[in-house]
Order: sequence, then structure tokens, then C-alpha cells
Amino acid sequence: MYQLTGKRILLGVTGGIAAYKAAILLRQLRQHGAEVRVVMTHNACEFITPLTMQALSGKLVHTKLLDLETESAMSHIELARWPDLVLIAPSSANFIARYSNGFAEDLLSTLCLATSSPVMLAPAMNQQMWQNPVTQENLKKLRTRGIIIIGPAKGDQACGENGLGRMLEPEEVLTLAAKSFETNILSGSRLLITAGPTREAIDPVRYISNHSSGRMGYAVAMAGIEAGAEVSLISGPVNLSAPSRAKLINVISTAEMHFAVMQEVSSTDIFISTAAVADYSLQNIAYKKIKKSSDTYELSLKKNPDILAEVAALDSPPFTVGFAAETENLELNAQAKLRSKRLDMIAANQVGQGLGFDSEMNALTVFWGTGKKQMQKASKTRLARILITLIADRYNEKNINKTH
Ligand code: C5P
Repeated sequence: MYQLTGKRILLGVTGGIAAYKAAILLRQLRQHGAEVRVVMTHNACEFITPLTMQALSGKLVHTKLLDLETESAMSHIELARWPDLVLIAPSSANFIARYSNGFAEDLLSTLCLATSSPVMLAPAMNQQMWQNPVTQENLKKLRTRGIIIIGPAKGDQACGENGLGRMLEPEEVLTLAAKSFETNILSGSRLLITAGPTREAIDPVRYISNHSSGRMGYAVAMAGIEAGAEVSLISGPVNLSAPSRAKLINVISTAEMHFAVMQEVSSTDIFISTAAVADYSLQNIAYKKIKKSSDTYELSLKKNPDILAEVAALDSPPFTVGFAAETENLELNAQAKLRSKRLDMIAANQVGQGLGFDSEMNALTVFWGTGKKQMQKASKTRLARILITLIADRYNEKNINKTH
């Protein structure tokens, strides 16, 4: 079975008798590790109550475009940025018509316009409505825009007719939703990723570190696995569970991270350095707890090895990707690092204002050679997936050029 652990799924429910299947689907998505937020149209609420969906999702259900209560918890634009996948099941003929024509008169259609996440629809309707050329034209429009349409299935319908139009069963929707995360664009490649902070000991009880949560690196590792790569994850101390298919190497200090990277790098095709590596460590670590005595205390620090720069300077380096967390002059500083460290690519992010370190959301600008791609504020899982796609494109292009 494909994994959904940590995936954020916005489940849209539209009006139709198959709405009851959405409740089963919601339970199954959560059982497989997904975080689910539910948006229901007005008609959906006639078939199944928001209370049922609220109890099953453990989250406030969104039903109105401008609702004071839900807007204050999460605005509709925040909601559009939140998911890794928008899954609309069941999707009625009416919703398909509205969506394909760009209407934004209710919350669900507005979200579909405002989101940059992939959208998957599981249609459910009477077989005549399905066959109607207008519905088929609407679906064609959506397909050409990259919307994934799953089903419908053939069989007995609630209206007493028989034919194409039944929503796929929840298990089938679940499998297809999970499968949509598996891209295989890096199939057969070996990825080495560093993540989290490093800690530099001062004495047996104290250390210097930073606010990195490791979320970005762990999301990149997961996206790498979903892209079909073999992933080794070298992680500083974090409170996250590693993707089960990654080889996890835990480290504490920069020296340990440096050692682990150098051990692994020769069997690596792509190195992604997301770790917030401490730039300095103690000149001398006290072997006993330092006692408080004078009013001021000075620590003497020495510069740590720059792991990323060292990897990029190897005789035959892997495709090397760095990260740059900046509080000012984002582009200038990132471009300077790309060149000085001789990287293939750098992902830069502004730190602060709820973004970057210790946050679930991020916004990245990626630079390479003469290229640049700006990624708007989104979940780290979503950004990681876009980043892995960019890396795969550049990596494959570089390999093709090498062989010609
Ligand atoms: O120079 P700066 O620390 O801003 O560069 C950030 C990038 O370099 C990140 O990708 C980080 O993982 C990496 N780095 C490293 N070793 C260090 C410092 C940073 O690999 N000692």
C-alpha cells in the first residue's frame, strides 16, 4: 500500500447520494496517516451532516465562503495553500460544470481556483448526466488543465438505473490518492539528505544550536522516496519520525554530520543539504559542568567545516543542492552562495514572519545557473515535492549533457 503519512488532504464533498461514501473515505484517509480538512458544499450538507465529518476529521468543517468562525481559524486563502492534494469525492455534475468554467461563488470552487496543489475528482452522478456531452466537455477541459479524474464505476445506481456514474469505492479512491504522490521521476537514483540542526556542546549539560525543526529536510526525504529514489537521511536531533523507507543516520554535532556525509557521499547521485549546520563549535568543550561565578563569561569558538562546500568541491561531486535561510537580501545572498560554494542549485527562504525555521509553512526561491523559480507560501511537503521535481529536471538534464 502507498503511504499517506503526514499528507495534508483537503476533502471536498459535493451534493449527491454518494456523499455518505465520503465519511468512510475520510476515516480511511486518517487511518493511513493523512491529515484531513473537510470542505462541504451547501448541497452536500443536505446528504450528510458537517457534524459527522467534523467528528471523523477532528477539525472544524468548512461550509461557507465567508464564515466568521471558520475564517478566523483559517482563511479561505490559507485553506487553499494548506493541502498537498485537493480530493473532491463525490464530485457532482454541477460542481464539475462550475469548476471547469472557473466559477467562484462558493467556498469549494473558490478554493479550487486559488490552490496550486494537485486536484483529484471522483465524479458521481446519474448515468445520463455522465454521458451528457456537456458533462464530457467539462471533464475534457479539466483533464487538459491537469485535473485528475478517477472513475466513475459502472453498476446499479441509487436512482434505479444502471450504467457509468457510481463513485468509486472509498478503498479505490484511497489507493489512487496515495498513488498520485508516487512520481518515479528519480527512480534508481541515490539521494543523500541532511536535516535538522546540529548541536555544539559547551559542557556535559549545555549546547549551542538553532531553531531548525528538521521538517523541510524530512519532507524532502519523503518526496525523494515518492520520486522513486533510494534515500539516506542524516539527521540532527529533531522530534520527527523518519520516512520508513529512508536509511536514517542520527547525529548530534557538526563533526558527526560531517563524518557521516563523507562516509555516504561516494555512493550518492544527489546531495541535498537542508540541515541548519552550526557554523562554529567550541574550541574546548568543558568536561565538567561550568559553574556560575563571574557576571560575564566568554566562549571561544572555532569555525566548523562547511560540509556542503566540501561535497561540491569533491573530484566527482554528486548533483549538489544547498539551502540558504536569510533574514535580508535573499536573492543576492543566495546567488553568492550558489557561486562561492559551486552548487548546482540553491533553495533560499526568508526566515521569520511565520515562515522557515520551526514552521509548517515555507516559501522558497530556487536558483540554478541562470534559472530561477519562485514557490509561493505552501506546506513544506508541497514545496518539497516541487523542489524534487526541479532537482530531477536539472539532474537529468546535466546527466544527458554529460553523456553527449
Ligand atoms: O553559508 P550558509 O551556512 O548560509 O549556507 C547554508 C547551506 O550550507 C545549507 O545548505 C547548509 O546545510 C550548508 N552548510 C553546511 N555546513 C556548514 C554550514 C552550512 O553544509 N558548516
